Amino acid sequence: MTIDMTTRPALASGNFRIGGDLPVVRLGYGAMRLTGLGIWGEPRDRDEAIRVLRRAVELGVTFIDTADSYGPFVSEELIHAALHPYPADLVIATKAGLVRTGPGQWHPLGRPEYLRQEAEMSLRRLGLERIDLFQLHRIDPRVPLEDQLGVLADLQREGKVRHVGLSEVSVEQVRAARAIAPIATVQNRYNLADRASEDVLEYCAREGLGFIPWFPIATGQLARPGGPLDDIARQLEASPAQLALAWLLRRSPVILPIPGTASVAHLEENAGAATLHLTDEQFTALSRVV
Ligand SMILES: NC(=O)c1ccc[n+]([C@@H]2O[C@H](COP(=O)([O-])OP(=O)(O)OC[C@H]3O[C@@H](n4cnc5c(N)ncnc54)[C@H](OP(=O)(O)O)[C@@H]3O)[C@@H](O)[C@H]2O)c1
Repeated sequence: MTIDMTTRPALASGNFRIGGDLPVVRLGYGAMRLTGLGIWGEPRDRDEAIRVLRRAVELGVTFIDTADSYGPFVSEELIHAALHPYPADLVIATKAGLVRTGPGQWHPLGRPEYLRQEAEMSLRRLGLERIDLFQLHRIDPRVPLEDQLGVLADLQREGKVRHVGLSEVSVEQVRAARAIAPIATVQNRYNLADRASEDVLEYCAREGLGFIPWFPIATGQLARPGGPLDDIARQLEASPAQLALAWLLRRSPVILPIPGTASVAHLEENAGAATLHLTDEQFTALSRVV
């Protein structure tokens, strides 16, 4: 297959099979930032939010990450409004297990009847018969893990969920969860400037689980003028955001970055990162700057 890097640049990031059987283009899109301030309520510019989602698909993105708690509900509703009926190759990953009490307020709630309601309501809002990837947004420490993962496994057996994922977990928690239900992906915070989840990434790479790094374009102080990214950015004629994404794509073939933006211009810039191929030297130099 020849890749049209001009019109569908995301394709240059290659493919990954979630759970071994669900192919996605590795460079995805995170739909959290489409909502209002504090990830609460409607977007400031709804038309632009719809344009961003449609443009993502045009650019070759086939993997969109969301959650019922984004808005709440707003992100899923926007995805439905912009893209339903969905292209056959589009994979929408959503999440359950957090309740919202106001802007910027998030609380784990893992009671199985609530997780089941979330799955049912996400199916309805997204207009789907099956959720391709259903992620437990947080493990609720007040509810037995068997109950939380147990209901996700039940939903999978019933055909309402295709694959199950976890979010913000340790290696120990992934192991414990896998004893209860098949786990296809892990979504943890990870980027060039914050590699606290390196052990979880290594585990996912060894076991063939998808690793979805959230906050992927954070570069912290690295991107400041005169900072360590400057030289490589100049050599590649790339932006700091593009370098951060190219570094993630190069770091491991199981990494599926989901950069988020509410702007078409930033979306296009981020998709361009898939076409940047770092040399070994550039990758090593970037890896050393933290
Ligand atoms: N599992 C979890 O607990 C969890 C937590 C947080 C997020 N997530 C998921 O991860 C996705 C990404 O995380 P994130 O949104 O926190 O982090 P991110 O994608 O690293 O950063 C998004 C921020 O960067 C800005 N941005 C995007 N592209 C840019 C560019 N090219 N140049 C300059 N600024 C740019 C965006 O603002 P503009 O809108 O102005 O572009 C936005 O403020 C979310 O959408 C969500 O799906 C998951």
